[in-house]
Amino acid sequence: MSAENPITQEAVDSAVAESLALINAATDLASLKAARGVAVGEQSQIAQLNAQLRNLPNELKAAAGALIGQARGSVNAAFAQKETEFAAAEEQAKLAAESVDVTAAAEPARIGARHPLSLLQDTIADVFVGMGWEIAEGPEIENEWFNFDALNFDADHPARAMQDTFFVEPVDSHLVLRTHTSPVQVRSMLERDLPLYVLCPGRVFRTDELDATHTPVFHQVEGLAVDKGLTMADLRGTLEHFARIMFGPDAQIRLRPSFFPFTEPSAELDVWHPGAKGGARWVEWGGCGMVNPNVLKAAGIDPEVYSGFAFGMGIERTLMFRNDVRDMHDMVESDVRFSEQFGVSI
Ligand code: PHE
Repeated sequence: MSAENPITQEAVDSAVAESLALINAATDLASLKAARGVAVGEQSQIAQLNAQLRNLPNELKAAAGALIGQARGSVNAAFAQKETEFAAAEEQAKLAAESVDVTAAAEPARIGARHPLSLLQDTIADVFVGMGWEIAEGPEIENEWFNFDALNFDADHPARAMQDTFFVEPVDSHLVLRTHTSPVQVRSMLERDLPLYVLCPGRVFRTDELDATHTPVFHQVEGLAVDKGLTMADLRGTLEHFARIMFGPDAQIRLRPSFFPFTEPSAELDVWHPGAKGGARWVEWGGCGMVNPNVLKAAGIDPEVYSGFAFGMGIERTLMFRNDVRDMHDMVESDVRFSEQFGVSI
C-alpha cells in the first residue's frame, strides 16, 4: 500500500527543498513575486502532491494531509519572511535615496539687483523731495504741442526734424515719443498750483543709434520751479546742492551761456567732478535757464508776477561719469552682473 502512496516524507522533503531553493534564488521583491506560482502556488511540487491526496485510501489521508500541511506552512513562512526582508530592504534603499541633509548649507538664491539707473533716479528724487519738491510724471507718447510748441520751439526748429524725433503714425495725430522731459514742465504748470517745485524723471527717445555714448531710449531728470521772485541765483544754488550730493562736497558747477527755446537766459551746466577716474575735471552735465516768459504764458501764468527756473540732465550720462561706466551698452543690456556692482539695495 505504502508503495502506492506518492506522498512520502522524502517526496514532501524534496518538494519543500525545491520551493525553498526557488525562494532563496530570488534577489528582490519582483523576482520573488514572479516565483510565487512555482514556489508556493499551484505549479509548486507541493501543490502537485496535494492534488494526489484525494487518490489515497482514506486511512492514509490524514497523515499525508498533515505532512503536506506542515510542508506548506514552512514554505509559506519562508516566502513571507523573504517578502518582508525584501520589502524592508527596498524601503530602506528608497529612504536612503530620498534622504535630505538638513544640515547642508542652502544653495544661495540669486535675488537679482535693481538697475543702477533706477537706483540713481531714486537717489536724485530723494535729494529734491528732501527740499520739499514734488515728483511729477508725464506720458512717454506726448502731444507735439507739449513737446515743442508750448516750449516755444519754432515750427521749423531743427529738433522737430525727422532725424531727432520719433513721430507716431499717422503723422497728423501730432504725437511723438517725447524727446525730453521738458513737456512735463508745461503739464505741471497747467495741472498744479503755484508756487511750483517739481522734479520730473523719465524715459525719453531720440533717433540715435546705440553706441558707446548714445542710446535711442534714455532717461532725463527735469527740474522746474515757478514762484515769485526766483532768479538765476536760486537756480545756481539748487544745482550746486544737487551737484555736491551727486559728486561729493568738493563738486562745483559752472554755467556757460547757451540757447534753449524754453529758457531765457539759457545755460549749459558743467560740473567739476573731483572724484572722476583719471583725475578731477569739468564735465558737461545738462541744460538750464530761467523759464522763458512765453512758456509761462502758454501755461496761463503771468510772467510779470511769477518767474521760474528749469534744468534737465541725462541720467545715463550722470551714471557714466559718476560711477565710471564707460559703455552705454552695459546700461541697456540688462546683465544682472552689471547691476550687482551697484549693490542690491531696494
Ligand atoms: N530739455 C533740454 C534737453 O533735453 C534740457 C533743458 C531742460 C534745458 C530744462 C533747459 C531747461 O536738452
